[in-house]
Amino acid sequence: MDRYLVFGHPVRHSKSPFIHTLFARQTQQELEYGLAEPAVDEFAQALRTFFDQGGKGCNVTVPFKEQAFTMVDCLSPRAKRAGAVNTIKLTDDGVLLGDNTDGAGLVADLKSHGVTLADSRILLLGAGGAARGALAPLLAELPSELVIANRTHTKAQQLAAEFHDLGPVTAQTYEQLAGPFDLVINSTSASLQGELPPLAPALIHTDIAIYDMMYGASDTAFISWAKQHGARQTMDGLGMLVEQAAEAFTVWRGIRPGTKQVLRELKRNLGVI
Ligand code: ATR
Repeated sequence: MDRYLVFGHPVRHSKSPFIHTLFARQTQQELEYGLAEPAVDEFAQALRTFFDQGGKGCNVTVPFKEQAFTMVDCLSPRAKRAGAVNTIKLTDDGVLLGDNTDGAGLVADLKSHGVTLADSRILLLGAGGAARGALAPLLAELPSELVIANRTHTKAQQLAAEFHDLGPVTAQTYEQLAGPFDLVINSTSASLQGELPPLAPALIHTDIAIYDMMYGASDTAFISWAKQHGARQTMDGLGMLVEQAAEAFTVWRGIRPGTKQVLRELKRNLGVI
């Protein structure tokens, strides 16, 4: 049977096996999907061994995405732009193809929630790997403006400069931000520690859409905060997780699984509904 897995550390709580098993069942594809948690300095060897032993493809998550980028034989344009690889496919010719489906997953999830990106003013919080992966797919939707704000301002400036050829992207400090924004995307890891990015509450209004790439069984700190300040449309990163997985599955199998039912089952599994 064709074998796939996700590399990460830690990865035990990953929902990818659950998601891909449901995709496989739905599309009647015969495959198995497991977990691999190599020591941080043993990822390269573990990846080679997996493909030497007949593995067909894998996902790569924290903290290995940047290292995976350096290990594949060729990169998709979106992986090259993201500077990170979250999906690897062994092609029929024996080539290891590195791709990045995170940004496409974000955009697909935003659209499935009815969020309009064209001509919108988008505020992207954070300038780490997650922000980098999102920028090209977001700019491809032709927003009127995309502002990056980050605690360490120089990192936001660097990102804005790097993606400037793709659209109207600028960097501002949290203090400089002036609304109204149509959409705020939190790509920071602040919610992991229950912390908040230092965003002025005045930037939140009833018609704004709020997206936190993090997720949990209950609202993230950022989503709770945004709701308190009047945001009516809030979304967490669970949909993005399923959509990026669907995109990876499509890369591997050439068939696109539906995501709605799988997202519902995942929410049930997590105890969210
Ligand atoms: P990832 O790959 O998930 O993006 P990362 O590259 O470590 O992770 O980036 C984390 C991002 O969250 C950074 O933009 C970080 O800001 P700094 O560049 O200033 O470190 C941001 N971040 C983390 N904790 C934060 C907090 N409490 N408030 C604001 N930003 C935070």
